[in-house]
Amino acid sequence: KEVAIGIDIGGTNTVVGIVDQKGHVFASGGISTAAYDDIDDYSEALFAEIDRLVDTISDIKVLGIGIGAPNGNYYSGAIEFAPNLKFKGVVPLVEIFKRRYDYPAIALTNDANAAAIGEMIYGGAKGMKNFIMITLGTGLGSGIVINGELVYGHDGFAGELGHVIAVPNGRQCGCGRKGCLETYCSATGLTRTVSALIGSTQLPSSLRDVKASEITSKMIYEAAMEGDELAKEAFRMTAEILGKALADATAFSSPEAFFLFGGVANAGDTIIKPTKKYMEEHMLSIYRNKVQIIKSELPGAHAAVLGASSLVWKELEAAAQHA
Ligand code: BGC
Ligand code: NA
Ligand code: ZN
Repeated sequence: KEVAIGIDIGGTNTVVGIVDQKGHVFASGGISTAAYDDIDDYSEALFAEIDRLVDTISDIKVLGIGIGAPNGNYYSGAIEFAPNLKFKGVVPLVEIFKRRYDYPAIALTNDANAAAIGEMIYGGAKGMKNFIMITLGTGLGSGIVINGELVYGHDGFAGELGHVIAVPNGRQCGCGRKGCLETYCSATGLTRTVSALIGSTQLPSSLRDVKASEITSKMIYEAAMEGDELAKEAFRMTAEILGKALADATAFSSPEAFFLFGGVANAGDTIIKPTKKYMEEHMLSIYRNKVQIIKSELPGAHAAVLGASSLVWKELEAAAQHA
């Protein structure tokens, strides 16, 4: 069996999967990202996990490694100045991997780009030529597909929608600026909204009994499902800001759909319905009722892993063409 290793690096966890070109996942595992400050310690742990997973499957031939990471740059093969990772500065991850493995293809891209590729090849964006993947996890990422191609841009960093200003002079962002979209609409942003509402309103909520640092987007979703007023208001506020941002983003590339992926997206209609409502309200009339918002159709951990692994097949194809 010819396989690729897909790696999705998140601010909190790193997921590893061994997959074939059809998208079948033979094995998956992972390590904590947040537990490491040092890139060498982190890489060693990741290599050990990769080797462990490879050993669990017999008769495989590994053709390469594809990595999706926050602030990952496909052109340079490095993670560059990631606000939500402990690894600071420029981390030449492809080089680090190449020192350890000599597989024919080793490549890196932005985590949301990887999710977009995964959705395009294996998920709900099959056959779609124009769509935008929005990942709502620790940060907010986007992967923009125009005319069937993922957009990289001049320097490889196209699609940093998490850092467009949603609220002038708003919340402090890890990138150093204030009011970025991700400070409101990522999973972390949603928990910040809950903390703010706890402090500034009298809305009843079971979340008032939970330590602020322990509140997760999943807990907020579960509370909202039980009718928790504060949790519902947090989703409404998130949807309002996200809906406006998606209406604006539509003006750039006229997508057929936005796909939502990650922590906040797991709330399904609780986030999608109000976001759609606000998006339509703020949409330029030429786009109205033409743009869908869809929950990613790939299983949570696997969309990004599949997208990351698909980089391997792309690299091999490109190499074959040049040969
Ligand atoms: C980073 C993006 C990344 C997103 C999701 C943002 O803070 O700037 O590169 O895609 O978080 O991880
Ligand atoms: Na991107
Ligand atoms: Zn920012």
